[in-house]
Amino acid sequence: MNNTIIAPSVLAADFANLQKEIEMVNASQADWFHIDIMDGVFVPNISFGMPVLEAIAKHAKKPLDVHLMIVDPDRYVKTFADLGANNLTVHYEACTHLHRTLQAIKAEGMKAGVALNPHTPVALLADVVQNVDLVCLMSVNPGFGGQSFIEHTYKKIRQLKTMIDEAGATTLIEIDGGVNGNNALALTEAGADVLVAGNFVFRAENPTQTIADLRKLLS
Ligand code: DX5
Ligand code: ZN
Repeated sequence: MNNTIIAPSVLAADFANLQKEIEMVNASQADWFHIDIMDGVFVPNISFGMPVLEAIAKHAKKPLDVHLMIVDPDRYVKTFADLGANNLTVHYEACTHLHRTLQAIKAEGMKAGVALNPHTPVALLADVVQNVDLVCLMSVNPGFGGQSFIEHTYKKIRQLKTMIDEAGATTLIEIDGGVNGNNALALTEAGADVLVAGNFVFRAENPTQTIADLRKLLS
């Protein structure tokens, strides 16, 4: 779709040249920076934390879409707001009081997102969807970039789209994991609004061109 939001995932960037990578995205046709924060507890990997996000924010000229793969995310809502996050996405599986967490995120002036692991049914969001700005459907098990896309995600997109429409909500559907030039169009046709792409963009020979090609494919 024409208005699909493209969000390169910084996890796949060259960390030794982070400023250059950020400037590449600034100058490209991408829309957001997707930032993966992992704590080594909720997921079996540790990515990067606040000082790195602070460095990214200093150079980024597009919205920061922060995906927290951490336990007890409530502890850090204000911290991420202060660091300049525009969207803050927490995992359904990490929140005992999800409704409260979403309110806390919005109270800090951010858009509130909820991510679902591949095994978590979309139906569990029925009573909260109208309070969610963005649902991130994980199309790989969170923790690592470069994994292959789980095909069952298409069914979840369609179910979620129906749920959002029935609620009269404007919630965005984001797909995270294994997105590439072969599945991007089909994902938007199923109802996806935001496509996260890590390896597909940053490990390409020409990332700027890859983003441009993706934009063209979706137009
Ligand atoms: C996975 C992260 C993703 C990851 C996507 O846990 O949430 O955002 O960076 O990377 P690719 O696009 O390479 O699958
Ligand atoms: Zn992510």
